[in-house]
Amino acid sequence: MDTEKKLIRQILTEKPAGQPVTVRGWVRTKRETKNLVFVQVNDGSCFSSIQVTFDKDAGLPAETDAALKKITTGASVVAQGILAESPASGQAVEVQGSAIALIGEAPPDSYPLQKKNHTMEFLRSIAHLRVRTNTFGAVARMRSRMAYAIHTFFQERGFQYVHTPIITTSDCEGAGEMFRVTTLDPERIAAEAWKAGREGRPLHPEGASFPDYADDFFGKPASLTVSGQLEAETYATGVSRVYTFGPTFRAENSNTTRHLAEFWMIEPEMAFFRLEDNMDIAEEFIKYLLKQALENCAEDMAFFDARIRPGLLDMLRKTADSDFARVTYTEAVAELEKAADRFTFKPYWGCDLQSEHEKFLTEEVYGGPVILTDYPKEIKAFYMKLNDDGKTVRAMDVLVPGLGEIIGGSEREENLDKLTARIRELGLRESDYWWYLDLRRFGSVPHSGFGLGFERLLLYITGMGNIRDVIPYPRAPKLADF
Ligand code: 4AD
Ligand code: MG
Repeated sequence: MDTEKKLIRQILTEKPAGQPVTVRGWVRTKRETKNLVFVQVNDGSCFSSIQVTFDKDAGLPAETDAALKKITTGASVVAQGILAESPASGQAVEVQGSAIALIGEAPPDSYPLQKKNHTMEFLRSIAHLRVRTNTFGAVARMRSRMAYAIHTFFQERGFQYVHTPIITTSDCEGAGEMFRVTTLDPERIAAEAWKAGREGRPLHPEGASFPDYADDFFGKPASLTVSGQLEAETYATGVSRVYTFGPTFRAENSNTTRHLAEFWMIEPEMAFFRLEDNMDIAEEFIKYLLKQALENCAEDMAFFDARIRPGLLDMLRKTADSDFARVTYTEAVAELEKAADRFTFKPYWGCDLQSEHEKFLTEEVYGGPVILTDYPKEIKAFYMKLNDDGKTVRAMDVLVPGLGEIIGGSEREENLDKLTARIRELGLRESDYWWYLDLRRFGSVPHSGFGLGFERLLLYITGMGNIRDVIPYPRAPKLADF
């Protein structure tokens, strides 16, 4: 018998007809006729299950007979037999079973996935088991394959993968949506405050702060990062082209189908790149990933097209071969103003675009992905390069139909005086950014970068409806189960 422990995916691609094979996995279904038993086994290595067929009249071992009686959906099994061309339609090969062992039972009265067609909401409540369904198995494989494609894209283009810190003392996006990291005990602090109040003592004796962060683990307030960009910039000014790919945290209270409190972001940063170069590589990157999904994940993609979002494949194929529209924020707002009566939130120059606006632009005005540039500086982060008009910055957002913003990026302000002025204007503490400003003091270069939300990409590629279903264990307001 084979000692290599082949996955079903390998068996189905190698198709060693006439050879003995061992199949290990979880039972999807068991069907019986008068003299045959059909067991569909899936191991998640690919979308397809493999059918193991047993002939009850063929003198099967007694243990196999007993196992076949006990096997139910969800049970884990190891089955042996000979691979043969299948007479059944819809499958190329099957296993003519000679033996099967029941490894772990899944009692039908308590196994939550005994029945099919559960709602996504229900499956979210059993996130530890949902990967055993067709949909979540396919999402898991897509997630893994896309991560691989992302590394390949950058590695093939001379980018260095850099690991930026997860714990940070600076707020990159300046939006104040950070999770605190502390070893101070809130209960003790509250008790101290209460005691001081009762004794009539001031909480802030001359010169001291309360709570005193000097006593905290890092000796100052720290948080989980909202972006690895600032540190990525430091590496880009040493090794030219870098990318980060890691977890990112935002304590924004957004209960939407597109926001997570913990998500993964890919952030390339390129020295000597202007905004135009940045747009070029962002567009090339998205199209590359779409093609990789279509070419290398055909079976899973066919499932998403058939069962999750009809028309998905056509839409992605068209996008992969199209030119993304490139439009300034000012031009886009003019388009929106022409159709103002269609929106709940009336668009005006200076407003942050709402999803209804993004939807209208991508789906109705430009009929595909749009790269919007040159946003008002007031609605963008401090580090973006100021245009000569003094009002707009060299920002770019890539918007896609059905989803909205998938990428946010910019050319960075490389001029020391302008960047310092902007930091002061926004009331940020210059001393917090001393190292970031050093990049503009020593060997400053034009540079650009962007951030792609990994889960947004997966939503777009799989057609799944909720971002909570494209990450194994979603974190969102009031949601951190498992
Ligand atoms: O537009 P954002 O906030 O840009 C940055 O963080 C920059 N520092 C990136 C850079 O230039 N290096 O976020 C980038 C992308 C968004 O376009 C979106 O795809 C995703 O990150 N994103 C989220 N995804 C899921 N949940 C959230 N709460 C997200 N917030 C942003
Ligand atoms: Mg953004």
